[in-house]
Amino acid sequence: MDNIVRLAVAGGNRGGAFNDTLKLLQDKVKLTCICDVNADKVREWQDNFPGIKGFTDYDEMLRQGDFDAVFIATPIKLHFSQTIKALEAGKHVLCEVYAADTLQQLSLLVETVERTGKVYMMAENYVYSRENMMIYNMTQQGLFGPITFAEGAYIHDCRPIRFNADGTLTWRGEQIKNERGNTYPTHSLGPVAKWMGITETDTMLRSSTFCSQNASIRNYIRKKFGDGHPALADGFWAYGDVTITTIECASGALIVLRFDGDSYRPHNMTWYQLQGVNGCYLSPRGWGDDPLIWLDGKSSLNDDLTAKDWNKLWDFTDELEHPLWKASLKDAEKFGHGGGDYFILDEFVSSILEERRPFIDVYEAAAWSSIVPVSLESVQRGGIPIDIPQFPRKEICYRRG
Ligand SMILES: NC(=O)c1ccc[n+]([C@@H]2O[C@H](COP(=O)([O-])OP(=O)(O)OC[C@H]3O[C@@H](n4cnc5c(N)ncnc54)[C@H](O)[C@@H]3O)[C@@H](O)[C@H]2O)c1
Repeated sequence: MDNIVRLAVAGGNRGGAFNDTLKLLQDKVKLTCICDVNADKVREWQDNFPGIKGFTDYDEMLRQGDFDAVFIATPIKLHFSQTIKALEAGKHVLCEVYAADTLQQLSLLVETVERTGKVYMMAENYVYSRENMMIYNMTQQGLFGPITFAEGAYIHDCRPIRFNADGTLTWRGEQIKNERGNTYPTHSLGPVAKWMGITETDTMLRSSTFCSQNASIRNYIRKKFGDGHPALADGFWAYGDVTITTIECASGALIVLRFDGDSYRPHNMTWYQLQGVNGCYLSPRGWGDDPLIWLDGKSSLNDDLTAKDWNKLWDFTDELEHPLWKASLKDAEKFGHGGGDYFILDEFVSSILEERRPFIDVYEAAAWSSIVPVSLESVQRGGIPIDIPQFPRKEICYRRG
């Protein structure tokens, strides 16, 4: 094996967001295979990357493709089985969010990575945004002190992508039809879990989840498809438009997550908050807002703090920008999800080449993804707190070949 990772992509839509990044990182990674059940999608990729092998069957790609690693960007319910098959076939895996559906699956995923020594990374790209990495850098330096509270929200009106043009459900619609809980937790939880050292210095102990009514999705269906659409029948949707999850950590810190895939509102996808003994961070809520921060010892300190004492996060760019962003600003800003897509792929292939733990490893993937089954159980049991299972970190001997 030379110093290039041969990559396969499974799932050609989201996978396509990485086209430019693949070209930029061509000294480390070479696309050799594409798999999509849609043959037109496969041909599109082959036009864009001449010479790559195309497959419409994932198992066949595993048997016949020449590649070291696979990026799994297929519908969520396929992630676990495709990941396990790839790891067992000796491939490294970068998998879209989230990792697996059940606690048993998450345990098996951890055990398989430990046994095979293949790199597994979850492609949680919001962790890597410029602001989120700057806050991560500050937490690594202990600037917030002990953490007492964090908040993460992912709010994205997905109603149009829950339906095909003829009114039947896409996989995104099918998924929420039967599941009442926090079924997409990693964009909200991932960044704050990194800041709080979840799985390193702190653990999530128990969690409660509540879901709202599903008035917004029903309103959309009525307007778009008319009163006779079958998805307007009573009891059709288990899901609620808004889901709130609270988490208690071993340190005593609290986390609140909002997952909201169906509220009718302009684009304003994520927000975050971090409160420590020595500082507070508030990400922007409105269009054009600046991220705000107050840090004891660095911001102004009056006896009586007022609203004027907040700093813009950017006041600390020179001193506290994360080194990754300092080094890659001009490249990363061009790519999707605030640069996240660039860093994800770079980190995945670098961790394979350097035979080391990736930045979002299997223990973090399991802990963050476990909120899905834990939240489903909590909602089913009236919102009572459910213990969050632990996936104790072991030293994995990562092997490239
Ligand atoms: N991290 C992010 O910001 C982000 C953004 C978008 C999507 N995603 C995730 O990426 C994944 C894909 O999302 P999407 O928006 O591209 O969905 P999509 O429905 O637009 O595309 C899914 C693609 O997978 C293909 N596919 C379906 N079954 C397959 C199989 N068995 N083998 C190979 N290909 C198969 C489909 O033909 C389609 O081209 C999901 O897990 C989603 O949650 C993440």
